[in-house]
Amino acid sequence: MRDAIDSGLQEFKAHTEFSGLTRLFHWLRALSIFVLIFTGTYIAMPFLQSTPSTEPTIFTQAYIRSAHIIFGFVLIAISCFRVYLFFFDKGSKEERASFPQIKQPKVWIKTVLSYMLVGKHPHIDGAYNPLQFVTYFTLAILVLLISITGVALYANVYHSGLGGVLGVCFKWVEVVCGGLANVRVIHHILTWGFVIFIPVHIYMAVWNAIKYPNGGVDSIVSGIRYTKDLKV
Ligand code: HEM
Repeated sequence: MRDAIDSGLQEFKAHTEFSGLTRLFHWLRALSIFVLIFTGTYIAMPFLQSTPSTEPTIFTQAYIRSAHIIFGFVLIAISCFRVYLFFFDKGSKEERASFPQIKQPKVWIKTVLSYMLVGKHPHIDGAYNPLQFVTYFTLAILVLLISITGVALYANVYHSGLGGVLGVCFKWVEVVCGGLANVRVIHHILTWGFVIFIPVHIYMAVWNAIKYPNGGVDSIVSGIRYTKDLKV
């Protein structure tokens, strides 16, 4: 718990809402997802035409593909560690404290009404309201599915080393999806989940920060949330 801050009108308490690692991973994942959307869209429709040359120097597609795969594995690594932090890190207790509220219909109804501008936001335990919690959980599932299909695609191109091991471990993805072509289509469709999620996420975060200016967007930078009372 940090010191009380005198706002001039009211006294607020500063709480650590997101640990340093959680914030670092948020921004690294944001960067990875942006790079993956742009490079993935390019892989799906390579539109750049290099000047023809007899020298082996035109690697536009290969560079973009490499960036996609590097950031793909960065996303996988961060996401695994992020799940670990959620369950086991002391600094994530605010996030874990939000979980029981998803079983409380009253909090759900009040949250949705406040988003519809017809009610006050309910008191929330922890970092997220139930709608935020379920949204971020859905995002985690989306990351899991796009990672599994991505690894299956990767293993079908790189047959030795890591690709060889992953090929054995993820062969079932191809079987479940009904062939490699379907894996690719599913990977492509899942991309649209991220394309839709990002603007909605930014809009909701900014909207929340403007309507309830007690931390809002800056808490994922500073880690601090300000509250009037000591119950968080
Ligand atoms: C937010 C995450 C991701 C997005 C938005 C994304 C998007 C895409 C898109 C749009 C394509 C092109 C599909 C097509 O041909 O129609 C693609 C291809 C591919 N992705 Fe991802 N991807 C993501 C994560 C990953 C991950 C985690 C991996 C695993 C390392 C991965 C590996 C691949 C591979 C190997 C290909 C095929 C490249 C090729 O055909 O040359 N992707 N991705």
